[in-house]
Amino acid sequence: MGTVELGVNLGGIRMRNPVTVASGTFGYGKEYAGLVDVSRLGAVTVKGIRAQAWPGNPLPRHVEVPGGMVNAIGLQGPGVDGFVRDYLPFLRSVGVPVIVNVWGTSEEEYAEVARRLSDAEGVAGLELNISCPNVKEGGHAFGTDPRTVASLVAAVRRVTRLPLLPKLAPNVPDIRVFVRAAQEAGADALALINTLPAMVIDIETRRPVLANRVGGLSGPAIHPVAVKLVWEAAQVARVPLLAMGGIMGPEQAIEFLIAGATAVAVGTANFIDPGTALRVVDGIAAYLERHGLRSVAELTGSVVV
Ligand SMILES: Cc1cc2nc3c(=O)[nH]c(=O)nc-3n(C[C@H](O)[C@H](O)[C@H](O)COP(=O)(O)O)c2cc1C
Repeated sequence: MGTVELGVNLGGIRMRNPVTVASGTFGYGKEYAGLVDVSRLGAVTVKGIRAQAWPGNPLPRHVEVPGGMVNAIGLQGPGVDGFVRDYLPFLRSVGVPVIVNVWGTSEEEYAEVARRLSDAEGVAGLELNISCPNVKEGGHAFGTDPRTVASLVAAVRRVTRLPLLPKLAPNVPDIRVFVRAAQEAGADALALINTLPAMVIDIETRRPVLANRVGGLSGPAIHPVAVKLVWEAAQVARVPLLAMGGIMGPEQAIEFLIAGATAVAVGTANFIDPGTALRVVDGIAAYLERHGLRSVAELTGSVVV
Protein backbone atom coordinates (compact mmCIF):
# COMPACT_ATOMS: atom_id res chain seq x y z
CA MET A 1 0.00 0.00 0.00
CA GLY A 2 0.99 3.64 -0.16
CA THR A 3 1.01 3.99 -3.92
CA VAL A 4 -2.64 5.04 -4.26
CA GLU A 5 -3.75 8.68 -3.99
CA LEU A 6 -6.31 9.00 -1.21
CA GLY A 7 -6.45 12.80 -1.01
CA VAL A 8 -9.63 14.61 -2.08
CA ASN A 9 -10.83 18.19 -2.34
CA LEU A 10 -14.29 18.51 -0.85
CA GLY A 11 -15.42 21.91 -2.13
CA GLY A 12 -12.25 23.62 -0.91
CA ILE A 13 -11.65 21.36 2.11
CA ARG A 14 -8.45 19.45 1.39
CA MET A 15 -8.67 16.02 3.00
CA ARG A 16 -5.73 13.58 3.11
CA ASN A 17 -8.21 10.76 2.69
CA PRO A 18 -11.93 10.72 1.84
CA VAL A 19 -13.19 9.69 5.29
CA THR A 20 -14.65 11.86 8.04
CA VAL A 21 -17.00 11.13 10.94
CA ALA A 22 -20.69 12.09 10.88
CA SER A 23 -21.83 14.98 13.03
CA GLY A 24 -23.14 13.95 16.44
CA THR A 25 -21.44 10.57 16.51
CA PHE A 26 -17.88 11.63 17.42
CA GLY A 27 -18.47 14.44 19.92
CA TYR A 28 -15.99 17.26 19.29
CA GLY A 29 -13.10 14.91 18.51
CA LYS A 30 -11.46 15.40 21.91
CA GLU A 31 -13.60 12.71 23.57
CA TYR A 32 -12.18 10.10 21.16
CA ALA A 33 -8.53 11.14 21.27
CA GLY A 34 -7.63 8.37 23.73
CA LEU A 35 -9.39 5.72 21.65
CA VAL A 36 -8.36 6.40 18.05
CA ASP A 37 -5.66 8.32 16.20
CA VAL A 38 -7.83 11.31 15.24
CA SER A 39 -5.00 12.73 13.12
CA ARG A 40 -5.45 9.88 10.61
CA LEU A 41 -8.99 11.00 9.71
CA GLY A 42 -9.58 12.94 6.50
CA ALA A 43 -11.49 15.51 8.56
CA VAL A 44 -13.30 15.74 11.89
CA THR A 45 -16.96 16.76 11.72
CA VAL A 46 -18.23 17.94 15.08
CA LYS A 47 -21.66 17.84 16.68
CA GLY A 48 -24.15 20.59 15.80
CA ILE A 49 -23.43 24.10 17.14
CA ARG A 50 -25.98 26.88 17.54
CA ALA A 51 -25.58 30.42 18.88
CA GLN A 52 -26.00 29.61 22.56
CA ALA A 53 -25.42 26.50 24.72
CA TRP A 54 -28.33 24.09 24.40
CA PRO A 55 -29.39 21.21 26.70
CA GLY A 56 -31.00 18.96 24.09
CA ASN A 57 -34.07 16.79 24.75
CA PRO A 58 -35.05 14.97 27.97
CA LEU A 59 -34.09 11.27 28.39
CA PRO A 60 -34.56 8.69 27.00
CA ARG A 61 -33.25 10.05 23.73
CA HIS A 62 -31.95 7.07 21.87
CA VAL A 63 -33.08 3.49 21.31
CA GLU A 64 -31.65 0.58 19.35
CA VAL A 65 -33.79 -0.99 16.63
CA PRO A 66 -33.04 -3.87 14.23
CA GLY A 67 -30.58 -2.41 11.73
CA GLY A 68 -29.78 0.80 13.54
CA MET A 69 -30.90 3.28 16.15
CA VAL A 70 -33.45 6.05 16.59
CA ASN A 71 -32.24 9.18 18.34
CA ALA A 72 -33.69 12.45 19.48
CA ILE A 73 -30.67 13.96 21.21
CA GLY A 74 -32.10 17.37 20.34
CA LEU A 75 -28.77 18.90 19.37
CA GLN A 76 -27.27 19.31 22.82
CA GLY A 77 -24.19 21.52 22.61
CA PRO A 78 -21.91 24.16 24.15
CA GLY A 79 -22.91 27.00 21.83
CA VAL A 80 -20.51 28.77 19.48
CA ASP A 81 -18.48 30.52 22.19
CA GLY A 82 -18.16 27.35 24.28
CA PHE A 83 -17.06 25.41 21.20
CA VAL A 84 -14.41 27.96 20.22
CA ARG A 85 -13.13 28.20 23.81
CA ASP A 86 -13.27 24.56 24.97
CA TYR A 87 -12.94 22.39 21.88
CA LEU A 88 -11.41 24.22 18.94
CA PRO A 89 -7.90 24.52 20.48
CA PHE A 90 -7.65 20.71 20.72
CA LEU A 91 -8.96 20.26 17.19
CA ARG A 92 -6.47 22.82 15.84
CA SER A 93 -3.65 20.85 17.46
CA VAL A 94 -4.65 17.62 15.67
CA GLY A 95 -3.89 19.07 12.26
CA VAL A 96 -6.85 17.72 10.29
CA PRO A 97 -9.58 19.87 8.70
CA VAL A 98 -12.39 20.66 11.12
CA ILE A 99 -15.92 20.73 9.70
CA VAL A 100 -18.37 22.40 12.07
CA ASN A 101 -22.01 21.35 11.88
CA VAL A 102 -24.20 24.45 12.30
CA TRP A 103 -27.87 24.73 13.22
CA GLY A 104 -30.37 27.33 14.33
CA THR A 105 -34.06 28.09 14.47
CA SER A 106 -33.88 31.11 12.14
CA GLU A 107 -31.82 32.20 9.14
CA GLU A 108 -30.32 34.93 11.30
CA GLU A 109 -29.08 32.39 13.83
CA TYR A 110 -27.36 30.25 11.17
CA ALA A 111 -25.72 33.38 9.76
CA GLU A 112 -24.65 34.56 13.20
CA VAL A 113 -23.01 31.21 14.05
CA ALA A 114 -21.34 31.07 10.62
CA ARG A 115 -19.97 34.59 11.01
CA ARG A 116 -18.54 33.87 14.45
CA LEU A 117 -16.97 30.59 13.31
CA SER A 118 -15.38 32.37 10.32
CA ASP A 119 -13.58 34.66 12.75
CA ALA A 120 -12.21 31.70 14.71
CA GLU A 121 -8.95 30.20 13.52
CA GLY A 122 -8.99 26.52 12.63
CA VAL A 123 -12.38 25.91 11.01
CA ALA A 124 -12.10 24.36 7.53
CA GLY A 125 -15.76 24.32 6.55
CA LEU A 126 -19.36 24.60 7.71
CA GLU A 127 -21.89 21.81 7.36
CA LEU A 128 -25.40 23.26 7.63
CA ASN A 129 -27.87 20.99 9.40
CA ILE A 130 -31.09 22.05 7.71
CA SER A 131 -33.21 19.34 9.34
CA CYS A 132 -34.20 21.82 12.07
CA PRO A 133 -37.53 23.53 12.72
CA ASN A 134 -37.84 27.00 11.19
CA VAL A 135 -39.54 28.77 14.08
CA LYS A 136 -40.58 31.82 12.03
CA GLU A 137 -42.20 29.65 9.36
CA GLY A 138 -44.35 27.58 11.71
CA GLY A 139 -41.81 24.95 12.70
CA HIS A 140 -41.38 23.08 9.41
CA ALA A 141 -37.84 21.85 8.86
CA PHE A 142 -35.77 24.22 6.70
CA GLY A 143 -34.63 21.27 4.65
CA THR A 144 -38.00 20.16 3.31
CA ASP A 145 -38.72 23.26 1.16
CA PRO A 146 -36.28 24.10 -1.65
CA ARG A 147 -37.01 27.86 -1.43
CA THR A 148 -36.22 27.85 2.28
CA VAL A 149 -33.01 25.92 1.61
CA ALA A 150 -31.94 28.40 -1.08
CA SER A 151 -32.71 31.39 1.11
CA LEU A 152 -30.84 29.89 4.10
CA VAL A 153 -27.75 28.94 2.09
CA ALA A 154 -27.67 32.40 0.46
CA ALA A 155 -27.96 34.10 3.86
CA VAL A 156 -25.01 32.12 5.24
CA ARG A 157 -23.06 32.59 1.99
CA ARG A 158 -23.23 36.38 2.46
CA VAL A 159 -21.40 36.24 5.82
CA THR A 160 -18.64 33.67 5.25
CA ARG A 161 -15.97 32.63 2.77
CA LEU A 162 -15.60 29.21 4.42
CA PRO A 163 -16.65 26.21 2.31
CA LEU A 164 -20.38 25.61 2.86
CA LEU A 165 -21.90 22.13 2.89
CA PRO A 166 -25.68 22.10 3.35
CA LYS A 167 -26.70 18.69 4.72
CA LEU A 168 -29.72 17.44 2.84
CA ALA A 169 -32.71 15.75 4.43
CA PRO A 170 -33.67 12.35 2.95
CA ASN A 171 -37.44 12.76 3.40
CA VAL A 172 -38.14 14.80 0.28
CA PRO A 173 -39.91 13.76 -2.93
CA ASP A 174 -37.01 14.62 -5.29
CA ILE A 175 -33.50 15.20 -3.91
CA ARG A 176 -32.36 16.75 -7.21
CA VAL A 177 -34.53 19.81 -6.63
CA PHE A 178 -32.69 20.39 -3.34
CA VAL A 179 -29.28 19.78 -4.87
CA ARG A 180 -29.95 22.45 -7.49
CA ALA A 181 -31.42 24.90 -4.96
CA ALA A 182 -28.44 24.57 -2.62
CA GLN A 183 -25.73 24.81 -5.26
CA GLU A 184 -27.33 27.77 -7.00
CA ALA A 185 -27.47 29.56 -3.65
CA GLY A 186 -23.72 29.13 -3.19
CA ALA A 187 -23.02 25.71 -1.65
CA ASP A 188 -19.45 24.45 -2.21
CA ALA A 189 -20.33 20.81 -1.51
CA LEU A 190 -23.34 18.86 -0.26
CA ALA A 191 -23.62 16.41 2.61
CA LEU A 192 -26.26 13.67 2.54
CA ILE A 193 -28.09 12.06 4.21
CA ASN A 194 -29.37 13.13 7.60
CA THR A 195 -31.46 10.65 9.63
CA LEU A 196 -34.91 9.47 8.50
CA PRO A 197 -37.86 10.55 10.70
CA ALA A 198 -38.87 7.55 12.84
CA MET A 199 -40.80 6.40 15.92
CA VAL A 200 -40.61 3.45 18.32
CA ILE A 201 -43.48 2.39 20.64
CA ASP A 202 -43.14 0.23 23.76
CA ILE A 203 -45.90 -2.34 23.27
CA GLU A 204 -46.31 -3.02 27.02
CA THR A 205 -46.84 0.61 28.07
CA ARG A 206 -48.06 1.67 24.59
CA ARG A 207 -45.98 4.79 25.00
CA PRO A 208 -43.36 6.15 22.62
CA VAL A 209 -39.92 5.02 23.84
CA LEU A 210 -38.28 8.39 23.22
CA ALA A 211 -39.25 11.27 25.50
CA ASN A 212 -39.45 13.39 22.33
CA ARG A 213 -41.82 10.71 20.90
CA VAL A 214 -40.17 10.83 17.47
CA GLY A 215 -36.54 10.80 16.38
CA GLY A 216 -34.21 10.04 13.49
CA LEU A 217 -33.29 6.58 12.20
CA SER A 218 -29.62 5.94 11.41
CA GLY A 219 -27.39 2.94 10.82
CA PRO A 220 -27.33 0.03 8.33
CA ALA A 221 -31.11 0.20 7.78
CA ILE A 222 -30.81 3.53 5.96
CA HIS A 223 -27.76 2.70 3.84
CA PRO A 224 -29.54 1.60 0.61
CA VAL A 225 -31.81 4.65 0.91
CA ALA A 226 -28.72 6.87 1.13
CA VAL A 227 -27.01 5.16 -1.83
CA LYS A 228 -30.05 5.85 -4.01
CA LEU A 229 -30.18 9.50 -2.94
CA VAL A 230 -26.43 10.01 -3.47
CA TRP A 231 -26.69 8.44 -6.92
CA GLU A 232 -29.62 10.73 -7.81
CA ALA A 233 -27.91 13.78 -6.35
CA ALA A 234 -24.77 13.04 -8.36
CA GLN A 235 -26.77 13.26 -11.58
CA VAL A 236 -27.32 17.00 -11.14
CA ALA A 237 -24.57 18.02 -8.69
CA ARG A 238 -21.84 20.34 -9.92
CA VAL A 239 -20.28 20.32 -6.46
CA PRO A 240 -18.71 17.37 -4.61
CA LEU A 241 -20.84 15.14 -2.37
CA LEU A 242 -20.09 13.96 1.17
CA ALA A 243 -22.09 10.75 1.65
CA MET A 244 -23.24 9.15 4.88
CA GLY A 245 -25.84 6.71 6.10
CA GLY A 246 -25.14 3.26 7.51
CA ILE A 247 -21.43 2.89 6.79
CA MET A 248 -20.28 -0.05 8.93
CA GLY A 249 -17.07 -0.83 7.06
CA PRO A 250 -15.17 -0.14 3.82
CA GLU A 251 -17.78 -1.80 1.57
CA GLN A 252 -20.54 0.75 2.20
CA ALA A 253 -18.08 3.64 1.85
CA ILE A 254 -16.82 2.31 -1.48
CA GLU A 255 -20.43 1.89 -2.62
CA PHE A 256 -21.05 5.60 -1.89
CA LEU A 257 -17.94 6.62 -3.84
CA ILE A 258 -19.05 4.53 -6.81
CA ALA A 259 -22.52 6.13 -6.58
CA GLY A 260 -20.91 9.56 -6.95
CA ALA A 261 -19.56 10.71 -3.59
CA THR A 262 -16.19 12.45 -3.28
CA ALA A 263 -15.93 11.72 0.46
CA VAL A 264 -17.83 9.75 3.11
CA ALA A 265 -18.70 10.04 6.79
CA VAL A 266 -19.00 7.25 9.37
CA GLY A 267 -21.78 7.82 11.92
CA THR A 268 -23.65 5.26 14.02
CA ALA A 269 -20.82 2.71 13.58
CA ASN A 270 -18.71 4.89 15.91
CA PHE A 271 -20.92 3.77 18.81
CA ILE A 272 -19.97 0.15 18.12
CA ASP A 273 -16.32 0.72 17.17
CA PRO A 274 -14.79 4.23 17.18
CA GLY A 275 -12.02 2.84 14.96
CA THR A 276 -14.44 2.21 12.07
CA ALA A 277 -13.47 5.34 10.09
CA LEU A 278 -9.78 4.36 10.13
CA ARG A 279 -10.66 0.82 9.05
CA VAL A 280 -12.63 2.38 6.19
CA VAL A 281 -9.58 4.44 5.13
CA ASP A 282 -7.43 1.29 4.99
CA GLY A 283 -10.17 -0.66 3.22
CA ILE A 284 -10.55 1.97 0.49
CA ALA A 285 -6.78 1.99 -0.09
CA ALA A 286 -6.73 -1.82 -0.33
CA TYR A 287 -9.69 -1.80 -2.75
CA LEU A 288 -8.02 0.75 -5.03
CA GLU A 289 -4.84 -1.35 -5.11
CA ARG A 290 -6.75 -4.54 -5.76
CA HIS A 291 -8.62 -2.94 -8.67
CA GLY A 292 -5.56 -1.29 -10.19
CA LEU A 293 -6.88 2.23 -9.54
CA ARG A 294 -4.47 5.03 -8.72
CA SER A 295 -6.81 7.45 -6.95
CA VAL A 296 -10.14 7.78 -5.17
CA ALA A 297 -11.19 10.18 -7.93
CA GLU A 298 -11.17 7.27 -10.39
CA LEU A 299 -13.79 5.56 -8.24
CA THR A 300 -16.11 8.55 -7.73
CA GLY A 301 -19.19 8.25 -9.94
CA SER A 302 -17.94 5.08 -11.64
CA VAL A 303 -21.23 3.23 -11.27
CA VAL A 304 -22.15 1.19 -14.33
CA VAL A 305 -25.83 1.70 -15.16
C1 LIG B 1 -26.69 10.22 18.08
C2 LIG B 1 -26.70 11.00 16.80
C3 LIG B 1 -26.54 12.39 16.83
C4 LIG B 1 -26.55 13.13 15.64
N1 LIG B 1 -26.36 14.49 15.69
C5 LIG B 1 -26.34 15.21 14.54
C6 LIG B 1 -26.08 16.62 14.56
O1 LIG B 1 -25.80 17.22 15.62
N2 LIG B 1 -26.14 17.30 13.38
C7 LIG B 1 -26.39 16.65 12.18
O2 LIG B 1 -26.42 17.31 11.13
N3 LIG B 1 -26.59 15.31 12.13
C8 LIG B 1 -26.57 14.59 13.27
N4 LIG B 1 -26.75 13.22 13.21
C9 LIG B 1 -26.92 12.56 11.90
C10 LIG B 1 -25.59 11.92 11.43
O3 LIG B 1 -24.58 12.90 11.28
C11 LIG B 1 -25.78 11.16 10.09
O4 LIG B 1 -26.21 12.07 9.10
C12 LIG B 1 -26.78 10.02 10.18
O5 LIG B 1 -26.73 9.40 11.45
C13 LIG B 1 -26.58 8.97 9.10
O6 LIG B 1 -25.33 8.33 9.19
P1 LIG B 1 -25.13 6.91 9.98
O7 LIG B 1 -26.22 6.00 9.50
O8 LIG B 1 -23.75 6.45 9.58
O9 LIG B 1 -25.24 7.23 11.43
C14 LIG B 1 -26.73 12.46 14.39
C15 LIG B 1 -26.89 11.07 14.37
C16 LIG B 1 -26.85 10.33 15.54
C17 LIG B 1 -27.01 8.83 15.47
